[in-house]
Amino acid sequence: MNHTSHIIRFAVVLVAVIAGFFILRGFLVPDSFGVQGDYKYGYHRGASDAEQAALPALYTGSKKCAQCHAAETAEWQAGKHAGVECETCHGNWQAHNNNTKDKAGKDSSIEACLLCHGEVEARPADFPQIADMKKHVEDGGGAYEKGMLCVACHSAHSPQQ
Ligand code: HEC
Ligand code: HEC
Ligand code: HEC
Ligand code: HEC
Repeated sequence: MNHTSHIIRFAVVLVAVIAGFFILRGFLVPDSFGVQGDYKYGYHRGASDAEQAALPALYTGSKKCAQCHAAETAEWQAGKHAGVECETCHGNWQAHNNNTKDKAGKDSSIEACLLCHGEVEARPADFPQIADMKKHVEDGGGAYEKGMLCVACHSAHSPQQ
């Protein structure tokens, strides 16, 4: 029996598949992919670095806020919330920047404070946590009323005991 023709057909198909793979790959793989010299993230689309860097930064840090809100910044720096960035409570700068005249987010609700100060087993015991608002108010010598806010007694920017 002569198998030569089978083998030749098989070889032709194999070569076509391999060539097809490299041709398609040439079209589909972006130009800057992997062309990074000795760049340590070699298996990577090089152009994406510049694309990401060109996006506007959503969060800019509290220094930005200080440019226009000097009074709040001074108050904040003097208090126990100095370690909590403005944008943690007020949302990112870019949202404010796009809509400055409409003002930034400002949440005075109990929930906004309890996000950090609610009692959670996993939090360090020395971090100030409130298990029960009514008990907290009465322990502090106050009279509890329904709907009372934390900011009725504490400054959000400069909370002191
Ligand atoms: C270029 C100036 C500018 C910068 C920078 C700026 N703001 Fe403002 N902000 C304003 C203006 C203008 C208003 C609206 C007028 C007003 O109430 O004073 C405002 C309003 C606000 C309000 C609402 C005030 C209210 O009465 O409801 C908050 C909260 C606020 N900004 C937080 C921030 C934070 C946080 C940052 C930093 C990420 C920041 N701002 C950066 C100009 C600025
Ligand atoms: C722990 C959360 C928190 C942090 C951190 C914080 N704020 Fe506020 N901020 C608030 C709350 C809550 C209010 C509303 C106060 C109220 O209802 O009494 C407010 C109000 C404001 C207002 C409106 C003016 C006013 O007195 O109502 C501005 C402007 C503002 N903050 C800017 C800033 C800036 C700038 C920083 C950083 C330097 C900052 N905030 C940090 C929670 C925060
Ligand atoms: C993003 C987390 C975060 C949020 C939200 C937050 N706090 Fe705080 N708070 C802190 C940290 C961190 C401290 C400093 C704790 C320390 O010094 O051990 C602190 C300290 C305090 C203290 C002083 C505790 C002391 O030992 O004297 C008070 C009072 C307080 N916060 C009230 C509030 C109120 C009211 C709100 C809501 C407007 C609020 N916090 C929202 C993180 C937060
Ligand atoms: C009626 C006023 C009042 C209200 C409302 C109130 N507090 Fe207080 N808070 C106090 C007083 C007074 C102290 C000081 C208590 C002390 O030293 O024993 C205090 C102390 C704290 C402390 C310091 C740490 C501690 O446990 O002693 C934190 C944190 C705190 N409050 C957070 C909050 C949060 C969050 C809310 C809202 C859920 C809130 N407070 C509502 C009056 C109040």
